Amino acid sequence: MEKPSTLPNTPDMSAFWMPFTANRQFKADPVLLTAASGMYYTASDGRQILDGTAGLWCTNAGHCRTEIIQAITQQLGKLDYAPSFQLGHPDAFTTASDVAAIMPAGLDRIFFTNSGSEAVDTALKIALAYHRANGQAQRTRLIGRERGYHGVGFGGISVGGIAANRKAFSANLLPGTDHIAHTHHAEHQRFSKGQPAWGAELADDLLRLIALHDASTIAAVIVEPLAGSTGVLVPPVGYLERLREITREHGILLIFDEVITGFGRLGKATASERFGVTPDLITMAKGITNAAIPAGAVAARREIHDTIVQAASNGIEFFHGYTYSAHPAAAAAVRASLKLYRDEGLFERALALEPIFQEAVHTLADAPHVVDVRNLGLVAGIELAPRAGAPGARALEAFRACFERGVLVRYTGDTLALSPPLIIEENQIHELVEVIRSALTKIA
Ligand SMILES: Cc1ncc(COP(=O)(O)O)c(C=O)c1O
Repeated sequence: MEKPSTLPNTPDMSAFWMPFTANRQFKADPVLLTAASGMYYTASDGRQILDGTAGLWCTNAGHCRTEIIQAITQQLGKLDYAPSFQLGHPDAFTTASDVAAIMPAGLDRIFFTNSGSEAVDTALKIALAYHRANGQAQRTRLIGRERGYHGVGFGGISVGGIAANRKAFSANLLPGTDHIAHTHHAEHQRFSKGQPAWGAELADDLLRLIALHDASTIAAVIVEPLAGSTGVLVPPVGYLERLREITREHGILLIFDEVITGFGRLGKATASERFGVTPDLITMAKGITNAAIPAGAVAARREIHDTIVQAASNGIEFFHGYTYSAHPAAAAAVRASLKLYRDEGLFERALALEPIFQEAVHTLADAPHVVDVRNLGLVAGIELAPRAGAPGARALEAFRACFERGVLVRYTGDTLALSPPLIIEENQIHELVEVIRSALTKIA
């Protein structure tokens, strides 16, 4: 049994089985957020908390943006729901065109989902359906990368590379998956500013799997261009280019999971644009609606779409979809978010702030416990030395100490992760960093 909370006005917490949460510890000492605006959350004790993480890497334009809320409420007042199976509503089509317009050239066919996990499973299914439609049905193998996070569907955890997310389900993961090596080698990359210079050749690990399985059995490779959830791993210079070269040469589809990196996080609409590397499929979610309504999507290269659609003799071409694919409220939220990003130049703003953010986070190199700092765009990982026998404990304490000091950071393992809304001001960047320093000084 959890201890009851000591916070005033705390509801009975027993019914909500919290996701990715240490339920017993949390409910014994809860941290509740009750409101949000711009760069700040309001905690249940009334304190303003500077949001250093854009929620879960998702409120890129800041919180409670009126333009998005109004678009959603107006839409719900007009059309609460319309199916997208054999029916449609006009905004679904306009919204897909708006998303396609900011994707890399050629990726202009958009499949809507409700989350990043669904986007990942959708992309994997599109890859399999494409090869089948293209006369290569034997291409069924799906390759992920160690330390990758692709959500929590069975597809996503099968190509994912985080042991804790896989072990309880290990006997039931998708057959025919494999993983290339991750890209993090601290001895060569420690305290790199931006992309590490060392590590392009790690992409050649795909050649090992091609030699093992034969390229003719491999459908797709999925990677996060910048790995977020595992603790911010920035791709080495030349790595993604090399992965693209190898996949293209061997007829393997390349999927970029841009659930975190999309919508300005790296200073461009997509990481693909930022790195100048165009995959065949892009998954997205989070910032697509500024998190005001759940939504996700897959952008597919037109030829992939056309191959699947034209190969079908008649009727439904792709047996896949969600009741809420292109939900009217989500469609309205996507369009309002994209307009806001454009009107306020938020992607450009993130790019302009990047050098200031980079210099600020790297000042933590000499803070207590810090063993590495990694950054790109408005993302940073500050890795702490694990406490002996208690991995993750130090980062958890740092998270709590930051929260006490009015700053929300995220922690994963022993890495503190920062991904502030793109509207952050320079002085707030410095505040984030100073609070982290003070918290690290306080903890053992
Ligand atoms: C790269 C990546 N893919 C997929 C997901 C899953 O998204 P969701 O939690 O919306 O299902 C996440 C979530 O953090 C993510 O970071």
